[in-house]
Amino acid sequence: MSALSLRSVSHGFSPQEWLFKDLHFELAHGEHVAIQGTSGSGKSTLLNIMAGLEVPAQGEVLWAGQSTALWSAEQRRRCRQSEMGFVFQAFHLLPHLSALQNVMVPCLLGGQSGAEAALAARELLSQLGLNKRLDAHAHSLSGGEQQRVALARALVHQPKVVFADEPTGNLDTTTARSTLALLIELSLARRTSLVMVTHGDEAARSMGRCLRLTQQGLV
Ligand SMILES: Nc1ncnc2c1ncn2[C@@H]1O[C@H](COP(=O)(O)OP(=O)(O)O)[C@@H](O)[C@H]1O
Ligand SMILES: [Mg+2]
Repeated sequence: MSALSLRSVSHGFSPQEWLFKDLHFELAHGEHVAIQGTSGSGKSTLLNIMAGLEVPAQGEVLWAGQSTALWSAEQRRRCRQSEMGFVFQAFHLLPHLSALQNVMVPCLLGGQSGAEAALAARELLSQLGLNKRLDAHAHSLSGGEQQRVALARALVHQPKVVFADEPTGNLDTTTARSTLALLIELSLARRTSLVMVTHGDEAARSMGRCLRLTQQGLV
């Protein structure tokens, strides 16, 4: 059974114009998929639909084989909180919390104790080379450091799927390359599926499967 399936999904924001139509997609457990496409083709919208942040105009989203169509807002929220991780181009850290506290947030929201959350966050941040920056406020970190904290926050609660929307778009080439390598390495080690929107061909090639979003669907 797939981690995530899209069946005949169509969506658009104006009545005559679909962004994408009749789109099919299967994400296997532990699989890494890159999604490319021109700016405005609907990549971010598609990720939002996959993550249940937006409901498609037509078609069905299945999570672990189960249709999400009849889920309540609370069910969607709980699934997002416990089973998904997110990384964005803008890091979206809480600026006045420390690196460690930012990474603890998903664990605390999931009901872990402060001690458990701190342990998991510290271990992951150390793996990402940030063991000396645990207590630094997020706003005082470099861009590369902030995105590594964001990676830790996306993975710390052992989600089934991580969605990454141009996660290295704000980083210089060298930092982007090393950050991406860390994201892939950690996702592989944790058997986390990864869906990544990226403009970079090199980044896309380092993923298991590369797809392009067009009006004809994901090809
Ligand atoms: N909530 C919305 N309401 C209306 N139009 C939207 C909304 N979100 C995105 N769009 C439009 O849909 C198109 C695709 O947006 P987006 O998914 O952000 O594309 P991409 O991530 O590929 O650049 C764009 O033209 C954008 O302006
Ligand atoms: Mg986008």
